[in-house]
Amino acid sequence: MIYLIGFSGVGKTSVAKKLAKDLNLKYIDTDELIEKKYKASINKIFEKSGEIYFRKIESDILKKIKNINIVSCGGGLPCYKNNMDFINNFGRNIYLKASEDELLNRLNMSLEKRPLLKKKNDEEKYNYIKNTIRKREKYYIRANYVIETDGLTINDVLTKINSLPITF
Ligand code: S3P
Repeated sequence: MIYLIGFSGVGKTSVAKKLAKDLNLKYIDTDELIEKKYKASINKIFEKSGEIYFRKIESDILKKIKNINIVSCGGGLPCYKNNMDFINNFGRNIYLKASEDELLNRLNMSLEKRPLLKKKNDEEKYNYIKNTIRKREKYYIRANYVIETDGLTINDVLTKINSLPITF
């Protein structure tokens, strides 16, 4: 099992989807899995039950994933509970990394799905990204591989992933 981790907006889901399609592999996205199981959007779950509850169901769902080649993880997932230990024990993982500026640009294109960001203005978003990455980096850097994605297309990232010594 290969886990893709990294900040919201870095492109984990797009990369996982394309990789799965190209190599005929099975992929899932932890947010999609939660939305299906709880029949509610991530936004609704945050609104109705709060982040602590979300982190619990996110961690529970991570541990139930079986027989999948690529798992695209929610941005906060590696940084809560013992999720990063679990990921490291259960498979290999890749941290897709991007700068604050790049993330801000990418996130501005997909705000509707992001409850932690959608009500913030640009300056607040930038500060949120900067401060949150600072807190999360210590978890992310425990990944087996780090790919710097600034300025890269999805295909460029795929080429880098395909050159890693990993099996799916
Ligand atoms: C979150 C990232 C989201 C989603 C939730 C919380 C975070 O996933 O799990 O909104 O804490 O950064 P993406 O990384 O797919 O946006």
